[in-house]
Amino acid sequence: MQKRTVTFFYRLFGPKNRHVAVGDVVNDYTFWVMVQSSAATASSSDSAPTTDQRLIWINGNLIPRSEAKVSVFDHGFLYGDGVFEGIRIYNGQIFKLRSHLVRLMESAERIHLDPKLSIDEIEDLTRQTVAANNLQDGYIRLILSRGEGTLGLNPFSCPEPGVICIADSIRLYPEEMYRDGMKVIVAERPRIPVECLDPSVKSLNYLNNILAKCEALRQGLYEAIMLNTKGEVAEGTGDNIFVVKDGVVSTPAPDAGFLLGITRQFVIDTVAPACQHSVLERTLHLEDLYDADEIFLTGTAAEVIGVSKIGDRIIGNGKVGPISQKFTKTFREMVAQGAPED
Ligand SMILES: Cc1ncc(COP(=O)(O)O)c(C=O)c1O
Repeated sequence: MQKRTVTFFYRLFGPKNRHVAVGDVVNDYTFWVMVQSSAATASSSDSAPTTDQRLIWINGNLIPRSEAKVSVFDHGFLYGDGVFEGIRIYNGQIFKLRSHLVRLMESAERIHLDPKLSIDEIEDLTRQTVAANNLQDGYIRLILSRGEGTLGLNPFSCPEPGVICIADSIRLYPEEMYRDGMKVIVAERPRIPVECLDPSVKSLNYLNNILAKCEALRQGLYEAIMLNTKGEVAEGTGDNIFVVKDGVVSTPAPDAGFLLGITRQFVIDTVAPACQHSVLERTLHLEDLYDADEIFLTGTAAEVIGVSKIGDRIIGNGKVGPISQKFTKTFREMVAQGAPED
């Protein structure tokens, strides 16, 4: 079995696994368990509520976090049968709320899920949940699940959809990563083809992304870039991708098959023009990534983050490039004050 040294693990995750010392050589299994437990600690502590005072919206009621439970017969739980959104709150404004709600409703329609609520009603319950939790900055998780049914696959055995809204805090990546750049890999696992399950549907079934993310975590990294089955660049496991070459900013065209990110669209429509750039949507291949002067990722959770390395390949000069820096700064300024809610 392959052996790994613990040193680099400590650099990435900090001294969380005190039962192993820096310089220890561990086998692949031990290493994998360490990465898993560290990553789990990192993500739970990053997003866990600071108190148990959070109120969660479940099917018409605001319920304390400790009592917020769904049925084990909910097809969202049994089969990943449902759709969701992740939305940021910046300084009291719910960033691009309408766009997220539109995408949620479209995703629901595409999996034949009738939420039995109008878009305005879902907006209203979202605002109520944010207000009940007194959040000025944070993250909203809005979920429409198929609801409780029988153990069979038949979605129409579930008469009432589940409508859940969680409003909480979030911190995805350490600040140094925004300054120094993020190291990523290209996943071996391709993005699920459009004909099988269109990645532009933001469904509760994220196993394709999770397994690609495991490839990154296995190497001590946080993010993986996914190609489609034709070998074209699609997206990250939880973000969209942009490349810069000779001053030209490009991003994959939608037919590559990926989630049409709200942040991606905001970057194309608003951030790029403010930075005196336009964005070209085109087919990107692996060589475009390796040959790029700069790469950055965009997403609700990740926001705008530069990439310094892909696998063994250093991108540009191995730091966050000037255009990526400018986009990150402009994005942050734009959302800090009066983030648009449309
Ligand atoms: C697979 C995937 N791609 C892209 C994104 C970025 O989308 P957005 O900017 O709407 O958060 C996300 C995040 O939701 C995602 O999960």
